[in-house]
Amino acid sequence: MTFNKYMWLVLSAVSFILTIPHAAAYDPLDPNGNITLKWDVISWTSDGYVAVVTMNNFQMYRHIMSPGWTLGWVWAKKEVIWSMVGAQAVDQGDCTKFKGNIPHCCKKNPTVVDLLPGVPYNQQIANCCKAGVVASWGQDPSAAVSSFQLSVGRSGTSNKTVRLPKNFTLLGPGPGYTCSQAKIVRSTVFNSPDGRRKTQALMTWNVTCTYSQFLASKNPSCCVSFSSFYNETIVPCPSCACGCHNKKNCIKSDSKLAHKTGINTPKKDNTPLLQCTHHMCPIRVHWHVKLNYKAYWRVKISITNFNYRMNYTEWTLVAQHPNLNNVTQVFSFDYKPLLPYESINDTGMFYGMKFYNDLLMEAGPAGNVQSEVLLQKDQNTFTFKQGWAFPRRVYFNGDECMLPPPDAYPALPNSAHVNSISIFKMAASVLLILFSICFSLS
Ligand SMILES: *[C@@H]1O[C@H](CO)[C@@H](O)[C@H](O)[C@H]1NC(C)=O
Ligand SMILES: *[C@@H]1O[C@H](CO)[C@@H](O)[C@H](O)[C@H]1NC(C)=O
Ligand SMILES: *[C@@H]1O[C@H](CO)[C@@H](O)[C@H](O)[C@H]1NC(C)=O
Ligand SMILES: *[C@@H]1O[C@H](CO)[C@@H](O)[C@H](O)[C@H]1NC(C)=O
Ligand SMILES: *[C@@H]1O[C@H](CO)[C@@H](O)[C@H](O)[C@H]1NC(C)=O
Ligand SMILES: *[C@@H]1O[C@H](CO)[C@@H](O)[C@H](O)[C@H]1NC(C)=O
Ligand SMILES: *[C@@H]1O[C@H](CO)[C@@H](O)[C@H](O)[C@H]1NC(C)=O
Ligand SMILES: *[C@@H]1O[C@H](CO)[C@@H](O)[C@H](O)[C@H]1NC(C)=O
Repeated sequence: MTFNKYMWLVLSAVSFILTIPHAAAYDPLDPNGNITLKWDVISWTSDGYVAVVTMNNFQMYRHIMSPGWTLGWVWAKKEVIWSMVGAQAVDQGDCTKFKGNIPHCCKKNPTVVDLLPGVPYNQQIANCCKAGVVASWGQDPSAAVSSFQLSVGRSGTSNKTVRLPKNFTLLGPGPGYTCSQAKIVRSTVFNSPDGRRKTQALMTWNVTCTYSQFLASKNPSCCVSFSSFYNETIVPCPSCACGCHNKKNCIKSDSKLAHKTGINTPKKDNTPLLQCTHHMCPIRVHWHVKLNYKAYWRVKISITNFNYRMNYTEWTLVAQHPNLNNVTQVFSFDYKPLLPYESINDTGMFYGMKFYNDLLMEAGPAGNVQSEVLLQKDQNTFTFKQGWAFPRRVYFNGDECMLPPPDAYPALPNSAHVNSISIFKMAASVLLILFSICFSLS
């Protein structure tokens, strides 16, 4: 047993070290996820060009929620933005050199945000003006796009003289994204709406931005708790799972403060106002193993919001569990299997039904959503032993949630052998290592 414990420590250290390089921008459950920015030059002007910029969110379950994206870059020369449609630079900068026509933005490093819905038609283009909110690809590919148009001056006026903008930055809405350098790619071909004519961009360049939770925040933003019909213990979220730095300002759910007016007003920088809990997470996901039938079993999933200042619109929940390949029915949530490695069908995303529970309300009596999932047992693998019925990974809104430690999982009565649990842990970490090695080599 001591040997097991020791091995477990060594193995977890090794797997931890092996996973770190990927922490930069690699999501094992969405290995191809990224946000791509595409600049299509659609015409040359006397001193520059007009480009349409399209942002595609190819991430399966990570959307950009309110207050939306903020995009920045650094001009390579002395470019200015004469005008924009469908977005705006937040700061005009110093345009004193200009007489007559004043540019929209003279900054060397413009910062651009989307316009709000309902702006006049002459300021809109297709896929703009959604307050910077972009759906995830898995939830709604048609809404996973955002566009704007800009007219650039004092740049090159041909594909030989244009210099690509540099140092792209993307907030979505918080930190976490790292963007590549712009790269000239094959010019985009546009089909006319009736499909009878093709046109082509004069020049196209792409930038790819990838997400790293590690860059987004030091601490997780959600945690998971467990319970089961076969053991009355409720395994809570780990203490301070999301860091306890907010503990001083938290609000007790039964205090008068929780009912004060204005408590739900969001802050400009999105700082949360949390209900006091021992985990101090804005989101808790609870996985309850509810029922055992002969050929099926049933799980209840609840998501609770502890942030008084945030409504989560179009939230997503991702779970990894070996039995998700045999989901028979999902009640009250929409469900979509994710196949990150094509052949392995153990991951799926849950999201709210439109107009029913796609809004996870602020902390309080209405601040939760729930679902039940019916799974068909695979008789070869199914067991209630050793925590098998609990998820291996859980993500909320694209961020991985902290799970309870494996040795705390609800145990079947009289079967809680420390040894078997260590073996289970060892097997899990060996798998993790093999997995990490595969990806370091590839
Ligand atoms: C970005 O995502 C798309 C869609 O998954 C993929 O085809 C493309 O290769 C990705 N780009 C990079 C640079 O990873
Ligand atoms: C450039 O981005 C578009 C999506 O915006 C994508 O369809 C295309 O494949 C990308 N091109 C390259 C070479 O990555
Ligand atoms: C620039 O345009 C010329 C034709 O006008 C074309 O032959 C060339 O491939 C283009 N170069 C790039 C980098 O797009
Ligand atoms: C672009 O970013 C690189 C590295 O982050 C930095 O060294 C460089 O100075 C930046 N360039 C400009 C023009 O800001
Ligand atoms: C959440 O939505 C409800 C109903 O739309 C609204 O009354 C409330 O002010 C919102 N709360 C926050 C924190 O935005
Ligand atoms: C994956 O599992 C789901 C059930 O969760 C099933 O509907 C789907 O057909 C499976 N896909 C593959 C490729 O096995
Ligand atoms: C579970 O799903 C797999 C693949 O999706 C399928 O081959 C198998 O027959 C299913 N098992 C049961 C018990 O339905
Ligand atoms: C329930 O699970 C806990 C945690 O694994 C364990 O300590 C306890 O002994 C179990 N209860 C019963 C009645 O077996």
